[in-house]
Amino acid sequence: MHKIPVGVLGASGYAGRELCTILNGHPHFELAFATANTQRGEHAFLGGREVRFIAPDDAPLRSAELVFSALPHGASAAWVERAQEHGARAIDLSSDLRPGHTSLKVPYGLTEVSRDSLRGAEVIANPGCYPTAILLSLMPLLARELIRPGSAIVVDAASGVTGAGNSPKPELLFAEVTENYRAYSVGNEHRHLPEMRALVQQFNADADLLFTPHLLPVARGILATITVQLTEELPDPLRIWDEHFAGEPFVEITPHLPALRDVVHRNVVRITARKAAGQRVPTLILLSAIDNLVKGAAGQAVQNANVSFGFAEGAGLPR
Ligand SMILES: NC(=O)c1ccc[n+]([C@@H]2O[C@H](COP(=O)([O-])OP(=O)(O)OC[C@H]3O[C@@H](n4cnc5c(N)ncnc54)[C@H](OP(=O)(O)O)[C@@H]3O)[C@@H](O)[C@H]2O)c1
Repeated sequence: MHKIPVGVLGASGYAGRELCTILNGHPHFELAFATANTQRGEHAFLGGREVRFIAPDDAPLRSAELVFSALPHGASAAWVERAQEHGARAIDLSSDLRPGHTSLKVPYGLTEVSRDSLRGAEVIANPGCYPTAILLSLMPLLARELIRPGSAIVVDAASGVTGAGNSPKPELLFAEVTENYRAYSVGNEHRHLPEMRALVQQFNADADLLFTPHLLPVARGILATITVQLTEELPDPLRIWDEHFAGEPFVEITPHLPALRDVVHRNVVRITARKAAGQRVPTLILLSAIDNLVKGAAGQAVQNANVSFGFAEGAGLPR
């Protein structure tokens, strides 16, 4: 059967390697090329196949019908444009084309929210890892306008170290990370905030976001804890999540507390909601877990590619 040739830019990075792994097992896509910068010329065994990384300038863009860009933000948008000029569809995993970062109207690939705008899309901005975990869990409240006007949505979230990419940094050395736990980007200044604010505004919610990320001593996974004030008491809070995401294959609503081991290596988000006791204002605590490299990056990107090309949405994806 004819498979669609696909290129991966930034394939030697964490998100790029995950893309190659998924694509090498995909029923409708096949890897046409994989690029690296400093690792050009090197090989990796991904998804059961040997992948050789070539320099971006050697990438045969014309041979690909779809290009994923897993390049760093700032470097990605120009390559997405170049891929499109060569006739390929493009999915950008960087923040360059996401809402809050560009004035261009690029479909935002939070699949469960914007599926209709992704069908046949020539270019898609794939969401950030933290925004995927956070926005999906807030969505039933945003869609029903249940968030208290003037309140702050307080998010404490922790990510494994692959969230920081594979370029060497002293603070990411094994001895710094292991048996440790710390916050970073403190002061509500993380680069994922513009994208999350844009979505909150899109749903006309009059609420601030207050986001503090933390670094976990594990390779992969995100757990977000979200405190949100409501306009009214919800007698059975989980019911609206069950209703909102009914039939969604990659959203798991659970009465139990989600944990990283429930989601790593899977293209799912796992969410629960609990009432907060002792508050004057009705308040919920949401917990949301994803694998930052799968549902938070490569898995969601392939989910979006499946939608764009009209394939079964779950084709080739790990559940
Ligand atoms: N990691 C995550 O959890 C995650 C989640 C969602 C989205 N993202 C986004 O996905 C993108 C990739 O993230 P990552 O964590 O995989 O990063 P990474 O591990 O640092 O990988 C970056 C990739 O881009 C290549 N590269 C770096 N600078 C380049 C340049 N100037 N020209 C051409 N290629 C260049 C690197 O090549 P060499 O390895 O050969 O140097 C590598 O293949 C980023 O935009 C990131 O924000 C990441």
